[in-house]
Amino acid sequence: MERTLIIVKPDAVERGMVGEIISRFEHAGFEITRMRFERPEPEFFRRFYAEHEEKPHFKRLIEYMTSGPVCFVELARPEAVERARLLVGATDPNEATPGSIRGDIGIDLPRNSVHASDCPEAAEREVALVFDRTE
Ligand code: CDP
Ligand code: MG
Repeated sequence: MERTLIIVKPDAVERGMVGEIISRFEHAGFEITRMRFERPEPEFFRRFYAEHEEKPHFKRLIEYMTSGPVCFVELARPEAVERARLLVGATDPNEATPGSIRGDIGIDLPRNSVHASDCPEAAEREVALVFDRTE
């Protein structure tokens, strides 16, 4: 079994899409192994998205991710990372395939409704950041 991390982002939480998004993963054979609903401090997402620090969209990304609560979900199934990315669709909702989560629910950049880890190493790092923090 492989695991991955998804985040239901603030635009989707605000529009009442948490159930719809998690349901799509459950229907696709993912098992929910841990889940956490909260509104983290900006510092958390600066660390989470550290690889984007130099990018022009970094500031708006952090502002957006802290604009409301999010739902962190750890999911497990064979080839979880690749399967989740396929369900999620392209980064820009305007380019995402109809039937993908971002194609159906995403609004624009950065409001693309859901995050999914992009490789198994990233998944392990992200799961640790979210769930193995000492409070
Ligand atoms: O989320 P994904 O891995 O598909 O894309 P990314 O390139 O890792 O970017 C992370 C997040 O930054 C995206 O999901 C968008 O919310 C945001 N972003 C943006 O606002 N503008 C861009 N040009 C690219 C990404
Ligand atoms: Mg990414």
